[in-house]
Amino acid sequence: MTYLELSQVSFNYPKQNKQVLKEINLNIKNEVTAIVGANGSGKTTLTKLMLGILQPVNGQIRLEGKSLTEYSLAEVGRRIGYIFQNPDQQFFCPTVFEEIGFSLTHRGYGPEAVRKKVNYYLDYFELSAYKNVYPLHLSQGEKRRLAIAAILVNDPEFLILDEPTVGLDVYRKKLLHEHLLKTVGLGCGMILVSHDIKFVERVAERVVELENGQIRRDRRQKDTIGQEA
Ligand SMILES: Nc1ncnc2c1ncn2[C@@H]1O[C@H](COP(=O)(O)OP(=O)(O)OP(=O)(O)O)[C@@H](O)[C@H]1O
Ligand SMILES: [Mg+2]
Repeated sequence: MTYLELSQVSFNYPKQNKQVLKEINLNIKNEVTAIVGANGSGKTTLTKLMLGILQPVNGQIRLEGKSLTEYSLAEVGRRIGYIFQNPDQQFFCPTVFEEIGFSLTHRGYGPEAVRKKVNYYLDYFELSAYKNVYPLHLSQGEKRRLAIAAILVNDPEFLILDEPTVGLDVYRKKLLHEHLLKTVGLGCGMILVSHDIKFVERVAERVVELENGQIRRDRRQKDTIGQEA
């Protein structure tokens, strides 16, 4: 079943002549879809449109059959976990622990339940030693892991990850891969925006390539899920 449906979606940033996306037609299902393409081809813009952070100039976006304009930003945010290309944009808490636990507390989890869940993610992404550190003081790879942990902890039904492997070493990439496979196994679909072709080859079932705001290629990969990272 189609999760996100884009019909004839065009976009340009305000006061810019350049059309960043041109009449995009794209159906995203509950699987792992990679979006690839050169710098500036429109990948991040496309994901922000899918979340309703930006609105198309023309065309329609539907989430499970209903127009995105009928959802509030918060509602979309609860359903789709979004990991920003630049993790600094995502952080707003004074410590790593609170960054991961914030939305759980907000959703009514008690302190003990929050502690248990946060500790699991601190441990999995090897951030326990930094739990009292200010997120912006972390290294690039640690920030990336924190950004991912802070989203995955909410068990979203769908994930959009914009360049999740940037700054990760080989071992941490493998851990991320394994965690994503587990998440997919639980029925979570995802969009993976990446320049990391090897990671895309291992994780994605479908690869959509953008070029100058248009879809240049849309192909399926066989038996990628479950390959060794
Ligand atoms: N806020 C903005 N205002 C004006 N133009 C923008 C803005 N954000 C992006 N652009 C332009 O829109 C185009 C697409 O940008 P986008 O960030 O979507 O590309 P991308 O494919 O994600 O690139 P990258 O691989 O570098 O992350 C680029 O030409 C960029 O300069
Ligand atoms: Mg981008």
